[in-house]
Amino acid sequence: MFVFALTLAPVFAEQERSRTTWDGIYTVDQAERGKQSYQRACAQCHPLDWYRGDTMRPWDGAPLKNLYDVIATTMPPANPASLKGAEYVALLAYILSLNEMPAGGEELPASPDALEKILIKWRKNP
Ligand code: HEC
Repeated sequence: MFVFALTLAPVFAEQERSRTTWDGIYTVDQAERGKQSYQRACAQCHPLDWYRGDTMRPWDGAPLKNLYDVIATTMPPANPASLKGAEYVALLAYILSLNEMPAGGEELPASPDALEKILIKWRKNP
């Protein structure tokens, strides 16, 4: 039993390591849904490609949850927090796609815990 636990330890250590926005953390479909929400709820104030490049830069090194919180608790200004959690993470996926961060096989979950563990990296190789 004791030996068994020791052999499993490295596997758990591997899973605990935090991921970044370059690890394929959203899906193509999710970003497409995010783009549609953006057109409906955001584009009258923010250009579609507003959150590309330098706009994203100040978030470098922060957990994805920080950006999620700004959007989900303050936007749109007339009616903050009016979208569903799933819509806000889809908006986030759209923003990541604008920055050439790759899509992957799993949707970004609307879970504060999961978002806290993913770090924003502004550029893949700074
Ligand atoms: C009625 C106009 C309006 C709408 C609609 C709107 N925003 Fe904003 N947004 C603003 C204003 C004004 C600011 C503040 C800009 C500033 O202070 O730099 C802002 C700031 C932001 C910021 C923070 C920028 C930063 O880097 O600090 C984000 C992110 C953002 N908006 C995303 C969104 C998203 C996503 C939506 C759609 C759900 C949305 N906004 C809808 C007007 C709007």
